[in-house]
Amino acid sequence: MENKRGSWGSNLGFLMAAIGSAVGLGNIWGFPYKMGKSGGFTFLMLYLLLAVFVGFSIMMSELAMGRLTGKGTVGAYHALSSRFKWVGWLAVFSPFVILSFYTVLGGYCIEYMSLNLSNLAFAGAEVKAGADLFGEMLTNPFGCVMFTFLFMIICYLINRGGISGGIEKFNNVGMPALFVMLVIIIIRSLTLPGAAEGVKFMFLPGYAVKAGFIESQPSFISVLATAGGQMFFSLSLAMGITITYGSYMKKSQNIVKNSVVVVFADTLVAIMAGLAVIPAAVATYGPSATLSGPKLLFITLQDVFQAMGAVGPLFGVIFYLFVLVAAISSAIALIEVIVTFLLDHAESKGKTGNRSKTVFWVCLAIMLEAAVVAVDGLGSNGVWVPFQKTLGIGPWNDNWLDFMDAFSEGIAMPAGALLMSIMIGWEIGTKPITDEIHHGAEQIHWLNKFMQICLMFVVPIAMAFILGGQIGDFFTMDPEKQGQTVYYIGYGIGAAILIIFWAIAVTSPKRKNRL
Ligand code: PHE
Repeated sequence: MENKRGSWGSNLGFLMAAIGSAVGLGNIWGFPYKMGKSGGFTFLMLYLLLAVFVGFSIMMSELAMGRLTGKGTVGAYHALSSRFKWVGWLAVFSPFVILSFYTVLGGYCIEYMSLNLSNLAFAGAEVKAGADLFGEMLTNPFGCVMFTFLFMIICYLINRGGISGGIEKFNNVGMPALFVMLVIIIIRSLTLPGAAEGVKFMFLPGYAVKAGFIESQPSFISVLATAGGQMFFSLSLAMGITITYGSYMKKSQNIVKNSVVVVFADTLVAIMAGLAVIPAAVATYGPSATLSGPKLLFITLQDVFQAMGAVGPLFGVIFYLFVLVAAISSAIALIEVIVTFLLDHAESKGKTGNRSKTVFWVCLAIMLEAAVVAVDGLGSNGVWVPFQKTLGIGPWNDNWLDFMDAFSEGIAMPAGALLMSIMIGWEIGTKPITDEIHHGAEQIHWLNKFMQICLMFVVPIAMAFILGGQIGDFFTMDPEKQGQTVYYIGYGIGAAILIIFWAIAVTSPKRKNRL
């Protein structure tokens, strides 16, 4: 089976691709700011704890599910479970939704890279402020669609090349290049006068409040939820990616070691990305700089490069290329989830799927939904937005990008992880998973116990908690009321989901046969 579907050319190639899927926009615009705002090292320690007990165990399980069944997400759930078969569909659908905006953001990166390139070529010509540039770009729907299209074409060409011939090849060059670019930007950022403030913001507990970056320290519960959500998104879990990439692994590859490396590398790049962007932004603008989200990338940093003088555009080109590579390596992983599903499906019908054609249709479908997000321009162009304008729900929901984001990452990701852990922990048991993990790895006598504790208790409870908070966010109508009643309702729904699916799992015939 391995040969027919293709597999990774080497373990290093797999690692590069897995790290590539994990390292993305989340590392650059999410992690550093959240770490600073939520108390520096305290946040980092919580993040690591969650990464070890939740992230690491889910990552190993997903890789094992893929390799054990030799199938993408839908096939893997079908093969393993009797009551949670449908969860695989969730993990194909969510990447599709994420891609609607990830590709648009990728397009922005191409646009900014070309912009800096032309500033470099026509040095001395008048340049615009970041905010004006960003505004102009967003209100030019045609331009945004074209750049999204360009991004899509790059992804199409890579995915068409297949696992070892496309994805692995791209990451083998892309990831080392990304690292080198990152180091260059860090050196520039840290040597700007005033950079130390930014470093203190990131690492010193309480500094964010003391130096006036934020008004008050968030509560422990909210730090925990932030760290959990970020860890999840950043490691690309519960999106079918890890199952899909696992299904192309060879039996000789070591799942434990590889998972450790991916978690470690992703966290390292997140911290490094923080050192690349936060000190530079703070050195140029002080505590009032916007330090997260699209505005950090496309307004604050663009201004930072312009303030650097003649060399600015050069750093601009390097930086946006760096972000672009990070975005491509995540987008191709998301696309591959859908492509692998369709190819597996064709094979199960006795046909041989045609990769080129499949990739083409998948990319076309993504392009169509992405066009809506691109034309919307973060809400600048008054495109109809579901719910908010009609029903008045949700402050987050004044543009299509946030809507797609809140739905996919906010709800679908934690829900997917919750269901997966209940399925393994309570329905099919951890044994088939740990047996698979032990192929190609030395026997670890505590592994089964560790996975049992994680997947039966820690992960479901942590996920129900994160999901509850997100449901609260999703339905909070008034920003003033955030953190109040709606959240209790959200947590209530999270707990109810946990109990209902737990009951479904423990009464499953599969569990009865096993016990
Ligand atoms: N992990 C990527 C990041 O940090 C984003 C991503 C999330 C990619 C989910 C795929 C799936 O930005």
